[in-house]
Amino acid sequence: MTLKVTWYSHACFLIETDNTKLLVDPFLTGNPLAPVRADQIQADYILVSHGHGDHVGDTVEIAKRTGATVISNYEIQNWISGQGVADVHPQHIGGGFDYPWGRVKLTIAQHGSALPDGSYGGNPCGFLFYIQGKKIYHACDTGLFYDMKLIGEEGVDLAILPIGDNFTMGPDDALRAVKLIKPTQVIPIHYDTFEVIKQDPRAWAVRVEKETPSKVTVLQPGEHVAL
Ligand code: NI
Ligand code: MN
Repeated sequence: MTLKVTWYSHACFLIETDNTKLLVDPFLTGNPLAPVRADQIQADYILVSHGHGDHVGDTVEIAKRTGATVISNYEIQNWISGQGVADVHPQHIGGGFDYPWGRVKLTIAQHGSALPDGSYGGNPCGFLFYIQGKKIYHACDTGLFYDMKLIGEEGVDLAILPIGDNFTMGPDDALRAVKLIKPTQVIPIHYDTFEVIKQDPRAWAVRVEKETPSKVTVLQPGEHVAL
C-alpha cells in the first residue's frame, strides 16, 4: 500500500492512498505558485484548516464538482453548507474520527479563522492523520506552541510545517517546532507564495538537519513524497 503526499504549494496537499484522495487547503485559483488548476483536481475528501481565503480557496467549487466530503470545524461547515455543498463532516479540535481511509484528529493552531466574507470561522486547526500505519501532522497556519510536544509524542512520521514568517512561524520557530515534534521527516510550507513570506527552504533544511535527527524534504510545487 502506497501513500503519496503531493504538495500543490502554500498549504495545499493531496494525500493519496490506493483508492482515496484527500485534499487539504486547496488554494489554487489566485495562487501564483499553484502547479495545477482547481478544475483539474479530483478529491474524495477536502479538509479545511481555517477560514482564510488562502486555505478555503477553491473548496466550494471542487466539492460541488467532485462530490467530495468536506471535513472542517463546525463553523466553517455551516458556511460551506450555505454555499451549496451537500456532503460535509464537522469535527472540532481534539476530536478524531475514523473514516474508511483512516483517522484524522483536529489539533490546535495559534492563528485566526475569519471566512472570506467576514463570517465567523470558529477556531483554526491543524490535522493529525493516521493512515496506513503512518502519522502525518499538517500544522497548517500557526505560531509556535509548546503543545506541539504532545503531538510529537504520538510518533510523527511526517510533519508539514509553515516557515514563511509574518503570518505563521518563521524559520527560527519552525526549527524549534521540529525539536518539539521530533518527526522522522519534515516538509516546509507556506513560503514564497507572497512577497512577505519569502524564505530560503534549503538554508532552513541545513539548519534542521544539523541540529536535529529529522530529515527535511524541500519539494517544488507539484512534487511528492511516498511514505
Ligand atoms: Ni491563515
Ligand atoms: Mn495562510
